[in-house]
Amino acid sequence: MRLEGKTAIVTGGARGNGFAAAKLMAEEGADIVIGDICEDMETIPYRMSTPEVMAEAVKSLEGLGVKALGIKCDVRKAADVENMVDRTMEKFGKVDILVNNAGNSSMMAVADMSEQEWDEVLDTHLKGTFLCCKYVLPKMIEAHSGKIISISSVGGHRGFGMGAHYCAAKHGIIGLTKALSMEVADHNINVNAVCPGTVWTPMMQGIASFFGMEEEEAKEAFLVGHSFKDREIMPEDIGRAVLWLATEDTRCITGQSILVDAGWTARAP
Ligand SMILES: NC(=O)c1ccc[n+]([C@@H]2O[C@H](COP(=O)([O-])OP(=O)(O)OC[C@H]3O[C@@H](n4cnc5c(N)ncnc54)[C@H](O)[C@@H]3O)[C@@H](O)[C@H]2O)c1
Repeated sequence: MRLEGKTAIVTGGARGNGFAAAKLMAEEGADIVIGDICEDMETIPYRMSTPEVMAEAVKSLEGLGVKALGIKCDVRKAADVENMVDRTMEKFGKVDILVNNAGNSSMMAVADMSEQEWDEVLDTHLKGTFLCCKYVLPKMIEAHSGKIISISSVGGHRGFGMGAHYCAAKHGIIGLTKALSMEVADHNINVNAVCPGTVWTPMMQGIASFFGMEEEEAKEAFLVGHSFKDREIMPEDIGRAVLWLATEDTRCITGQSILVDAGWTARAP
C-alpha cells in the first residue's frame, strides 16, 4: 500500500474525476477528506453534487477500510477552505496530499458573458486552487513534506470556443503550479498539475444536455481530437495520474503539467 498512513484532501471529490482519484488513493491506504460545494451555482447550467452524493462517496471510501470525511466547502470562500483544513487537522492531524479538483463550467461567448459567469468559473478553479494551497501549505511546510496536485485541462494548453473563462482559469492553474513549485521545493513539497482530455463525467453530461445533445452524439463530438478511437478516457485514468503524483515514485517531478488526453495535444492542427 503506497499511501498507508497518509491523509489526502480532494476538493470536488464527491463524484467524477475527484471521486475516482479519492478511491484510488484510498485503495492505497490513504484517509480521505472530500470538500465539495454540494449545492447548485447560479450560472452553471447543470447540477453540482448534493449532500446525498457526498454521503454516498464517503460511505464507499469507508468501505475500502480507510477513514473518510465529507465537508461542505465552497473553494471560492476563504472561510470554508480554512474550516475544511481545520477539521482535517482535528481529525487526522496532518495533510499529506492536496488534490485541487473542484471545477465547473458554463459555455459562453465573451461578449455575452456576465461578470458573474466569469467569476463563478475563475473563482472556483483558480482562486479556489490558490485558497486551498494557502491554507494547506503551512501544515505541509511544518511537516517538511507534501504533494499538491491540481486538475487543469487540455483547456490549460489550448483554447476552446465559448470557454474563454474556463481556459483562462486552466492556463492560470498551470502558471500557479510552475511558480509555486519553485517557492516550496526547499520544503520538500511537490506541486504538479494533471490535464485531462474529455472525460464523460457529470460536468460533460451537463454541458452536453445544455446544448440539447444526446449521449452518443455528444460523446462522438467530445472525442474529436483524441487519438485513440477504441477507448474513452475514464475518471480512473485521471485518478491514476493523480495517484502516481501522490507517491514517492514521482519525488523528482515538480512544476509539471501532465496531459492525460489520449494524444489530443500531440496532433497537428
Ligand atoms: N470531464 C472532463 O472532460 C474534464 C476535462 C478536463 C478537466 N476536467 C476537470 O476535472 C475536474 C473535475 O471535473 P469533473 O469532470 O469530474 O466534473 P464533475 O461535475 O463531475 O465534478 C466536479 C465536482 O466539483 C464540485 N464543485 C464545483 N464547484 C465547486 C466549488 N466552488 N467548491 C467546491 N466544490 C465544487 C461539484 O459539486 C462536483 O462534485 C474539474 O476541475 C474539471 O475542470 C474535466
